[in-house]
Amino acid sequence: MQIIDGKAVSAQIKLEIAEEVVRLKSEGKKTPHLAAVLVGHDGGSETYVANKVRACEEVGFKSTLIRFEENVSEDELLSCVERLNNDDDVDGFIVQLPLPEHISENKITEAIDYRKDVDGFHPVNVGRMAIGLPCFLSATPSGIVELLRRYKIETRGKHCVVLGRSNIVGKPVSMLMLQKSYPGDCTVTVCHSRTKNIKEICVQADIIIAALGSPEFLKADMVKEGAVVIDVGTTRVPSTKTKSGFKLTGDVAFDEVAPKCSFITPVPGGVGPMTIVSLLKNTLLAAKKEIYR
Ligand code: GUN
Repeated sequence: MQIIDGKAVSAQIKLEIAEEVVRLKSEGKKTPHLAAVLVGHDGGSETYVANKVRACEEVGFKSTLIRFEENVSEDELLSCVERLNNDDDVDGFIVQLPLPEHISENKITEAIDYRKDVDGFHPVNVGRMAIGLPCFLSATPSGIVELLRRYKIETRGKHCVVLGRSNIVGKPVSMLMLQKSYPGDCTVTVCHSRTKNIKEICVQADIIIAALGSPEFLKADMVKEGAVVIDVGTTRVPSTKTKSGFKLTGDVAFDEVAPKCSFITPVPGGVGPMTIVSLLKNTLLAAKKEIYR
């Protein structure tokens, strides 16, 4: 069993990005600039956005954080998106989700210029991904396939079971694993809360991507000997053992599942760090105008 070290891989990719930023600057090109919009004070979102801003600093990007209170109106947020769309210094930006109930996430996502949509959530980017055209790939699916690539994990002809059908992980990662390319070429089954016989389906999987948000859902008796298990879960479970008072818990019961696997990602330190790196890669692509002019 080999543990997939997302922290080490992401550190390596950050070095590669930082080198490229130095090169761009030495050629007189502009510093890549990522803006992040954060609404409210949700603990998880605060942490994610702070990590994204810190990662920008680490690789030499410029970053801007724009904050709104929970009661910001949809129109105010739409005006902010419009401003960022038209700001030539901003190469890419994200609006951290979830948003408060009174704001339509779809409306905000669609208002973002797809050429600056470094989250890869805009329908143009999702659609282009679905048919294999160059696009901004959404961060978590892109991080997962990068881990499979860097660990040279065979995916061709394998049965990949995706647990979860969210727009930001389950659906896009299932499309990437289906793609006629490497990593990809899988037979893909997507399971969700209404799926019958999840256990029977999981035991047939060569690769399981667990993205349900249900702590320790995947148990040892659901996993075939030698399977590859990718854990996308990051639920904050209360804990008396940590300073923060919570512990990030994956969708996989790691201690019992790991001995059966050929490869497995831990939580934390697996997919999580890769997600941020994917965002940095997209921002670099946006700054270089490599996908859209
Ligand atoms: N909320 C959870 N994950 C993400 C992400 O990748 N991007 C944004 N914008 N919000 C999120």
